[in-house]
Amino acid sequence: MFGFLDRSLRFAAVAALSLGTGGTAAAAGDVEAGGKVFRACAACHAMEPGKHRLGPSLAGVIGRAAGTAEAFRYSKAMEESGVVWTEDALALYLTKPSAFIKGNRMAFPGLRKPDDIADVIAWIKANGGGAAAPPAAAGAAPVPTVAPARAAVAASAPAGGGRYGLGRPAKPEEIALWDIDVRPDGLGLPPGHGTATEGEALWGERCAACHGDFGEAFGRYPALIGGEGTLAREFPEKTIGSYWPYASTVFDYVHRAMPYGDAQSLTADETYALTAFLLASNNLIDQDFVLDAKSLPQLKMPNADGFYIHDTPDFPPYEPCMKDCKKSVEITGRARIIDVTPEGEDNAVSVE
Ligand code: HEC
Ligand code: HEC
Repeated sequence: MFGFLDRSLRFAAVAALSLGTGGTAAAAGDVEAGGKVFRACAACHAMEPGKHRLGPSLAGVIGRAAGTAEAFRYSKAMEESGVVWTEDALALYLTKPSAFIKGNRMAFPGLRKPDDIADVIAWIKANGGGAAAPPAAAGAAPVPTVAPARAAVAASAPAGGGRYGLGRPAKPEEIALWDIDVRPDGLGLPPGHGTATEGEALWGERCAACHGDFGEAFGRYPALIGGEGTLAREFPEKTIGSYWPYASTVFDYVHRAMPYGDAQSLTADETYALTAFLLASNNLIDQDFVLDAKSLPQLKMPNADGFYIHDTPDFPPYEPCMKDCKKSVEITGRARIIDVTPEGEDNAVSVE
């Protein structure tokens, strides 16, 4: 069955088998070193029971059937794999996720070093991933996985008023939870502050798995640095540094939408620090520049003047024809032919 496995995978499989299955001692794995390796997983996996990010919670994962954590939507491939997460199975999966369970959705290329795999398994086992998961699952309140705004609104039962006898006016505190947009002039920025230096560790933990150590990005995730001077090219690289007109958008977007799969989990201070990290990575501010509600709107982005208000009127300057219009319509171009969908070498994207 391992015919498709490449050499390194077979090598790792041997290393993994040497861990043994039933042993209680975490064999060769070094828990502390495994904690560092787990940083590559933490963007998508939490160890708290029931806390799902982009990937399922790994609480109690060792010994349980694949695809069975409650309230997580797995791929069919994972659910129907028939795999049980013994330490051996985990080791094989982490070596090359796409090969071990074909068609599963974990967007992670795998760990190259057998030691890293043994270490991370040891760490998972020591941190609630073992079969005897801490009883916290029963007692502790489940960690909410929906954004606070959605949770608050869901919790407030409709009172049956209003014009249609449905619902009730939103309370100011409910509106406040949704009212998180930040304008270029700084309106909407919350109190708090942060520097790139402070943001660096957090970046490694919450963002680097997808966007790379410096924002250069892995695979097809968006790059957040570089691209200067490419806007006039046929295939411009639009990044925060090369394209975005306002620094406020970085704060707004990160606060609203990132990390992917765990949106709105960042505090204001963390968002300031990560915004500073991204601006510093684009050489726009220094490592220790303090970003807050006052300093952020004063930054001018390199491409701020590349945007202008388009003066096309909202309505056409002529009376649109509403009846007895043209008898026949002549097609003068098709998207395929006039080439609005670029193809060819320059635009090739690598797919793993
Ligand atoms: C980019 C996000 C991402 C990263 C990084 C990632 N995973 Fe996953 N992982 C997922 C997703 C999504 C799934 C569910 C896959 C499916 O349903 O096909 C998953 C599934 C799993 C499963 C199966 C769990 C179950 O309940 O059956 C294990 C075990 C696992 N990942 C371990 C790891 C470990 C260990 C790492 C780090 C070395 C890691 N993952 C890195 C997203 C990720
Ligand atoms: C699991 C992968 C993943 C993680 C982790 C992640 N991102 Fe993203 N990020 C994405 C994806 C995918 C997009 C594009 C989303 C879209 O276009 O709808 C994106 C888009 C962005 C963008 C906008 C890029 C652009 O040019 O439009 C920024 C800024 C960003 N992420 C910052 C962050 C920060 C800061 C963190 C850490 C707190 C983070 N991301 C964590 C996957 C990730």
